[in-house]
Amino acid sequence: MEQFRSNRDYTIIFIKAGLLFLLSTLLFGLLGALEYVIPGFLKDVFTFEKIRPLHVSSAIFWILTCAIGGVLFYVREEHNGIFKLPNFPKIIFFILAITFSSILVSYIFGIFGGREYWEFDPIFTIPISIGWGLFIYAFITNMKTLKNQPVYIWMWFTGAVFFLFTYLESNSWILPQIRNNLVKDMTIQWKSYGSLVGAWNQLIYGTSIYLMDKIAGDKKYSFSKIAFALYFLGVFNLMFNWGHHVYLLPTHAYVKHIGYLVSMTELVLFGRIIYLWRSSLSTAKRNFHIVPFKFLFAADVWVFLTLALAILMSIPVLNLYMHGTHIIVGHTMGATIGINTMLLLAFAYDIIGFRKNDSKKIYYGYWTINLSLIIFWISLIVAGVMKAYYQFNMPEMSYGVMINQLWPWFLLFLTSGICMIIGFVLVIFPLFKNKN
Ligand code: HEM
Repeated sequence: MEQFRSNRDYTIIFIKAGLLFLLSTLLFGLLGALEYVIPGFLKDVFTFEKIRPLHVSSAIFWILTCAIGGVLFYVREEHNGIFKLPNFPKIIFFILAITFSSILVSYIFGIFGGREYWEFDPIFTIPISIGWGLFIYAFITNMKTLKNQPVYIWMWFTGAVFFLFTYLESNSWILPQIRNNLVKDMTIQWKSYGSLVGAWNQLIYGTSIYLMDKIAGDKKYSFSKIAFALYFLGVFNLMFNWGHHVYLLPTHAYVKHIGYLVSMTELVLFGRIIYLWRSSLSTAKRNFHIVPFKFLFAADVWVFLTLALAILMSIPVLNLYMHGTHIIVGHTMGATIGINTMLLLAFAYDIIGFRKNDSKKIYYGYWTINLSLIIFWISLIVAGVMKAYYQFNMPEMSYGVMINQLWPWFLLFLTSGICMIIGFVLVIFPLFKNKN
């Protein structure tokens, strides 16, 4: 028994815990969507004010837990199975898993106290920062230098360090000097959120480059000039592309102008995807039978769709219309499901593996998720466009009447959401069945 215990691989446990947070995301997402369609559903047990943070925080915890597990696993793989500070994955796991689970329990008991997306009591910031600090320390101890390293090591390093920095920044509202100045408070909050997502994307995109190299069997891409050029563009965006989050705030105009210009540099990425689509397609044909590759490919398609929507959202006049509508929800969920979740599932399948007799389930699950996600995404965008139209052109329309007009799209959102959950269940359970 003791022998079994000491052999536990906490990098894999990280990923499995992440999958449990994903299941919790799906459960609370379903309850939230039911509230859209049947207002007041479960009102006495779970109000929407509770369901939303339970859903959104579970999604963030799924992303963070699985991303850390993936980075730690591949850092060890990169060093031929040797990980300096071998107890660290276990320590980091316990700190973060206990904190994240306690946050969800605290929501159930109605204990809140933070800001949108991080709605928990700020006391939880302490263990999160300690756990994350240990993750950075373990990473640096294993990597030692950035000199002559492939691009994914740079990305992991940038993601890990920037995440802690921007996470602490997002908590600066705790200081009265910030809290008592609404514009400053909101500017910092939205700026840090933009960068936080950029930081976890560095961790996840770095891991996907590692995995693509592993599938290709060489490291040509991760040492190439173009990989580094795109990395620097990503870091630049991480630091400055949040301007479109604050267009509506009465803050300095130059902040918005810089933000707009930087957002538009993402057109380079967009153009590159279009330019390379033929060769991406032939690579896809060659490798589509490899399960992790399937998920990498789906993420590629979702990067394209999400980037297209994000670029439209960065245009100030459109941003004004889209603000506060379901287009924003569609954009956020399109990115966190289509890009982040697809990539994380690719890592999970590479690291944990699956049994041959589950192949069909995974195949059907994969297609069910992606096809229903398209409908899910479109239904939110259409509902958002209609809401924007009513708000600007028929300001006299009552909220109740407007919601009635949107109801068919909410029903489509719920139905496609249920199909997507079925797809996820088909894809998640084979990972728990495998012994790894
Ligand atoms: C991997 C799966 C999922 C992830 C990562 C995810 C992520 C998110 C995120 C980040 C938000 C916040 C959006 C924003 O404020 O802009 C959100 C909101 C929401 N999600 Fe999901 N989601 C997932 C699946 C689902 C599913 C399957 C459903 C429904 C069946 C759903 C229903 C909702 C609802 C109702 C909201 C609240 C929107 C509002 O505030 O009006 N989600 N989700």
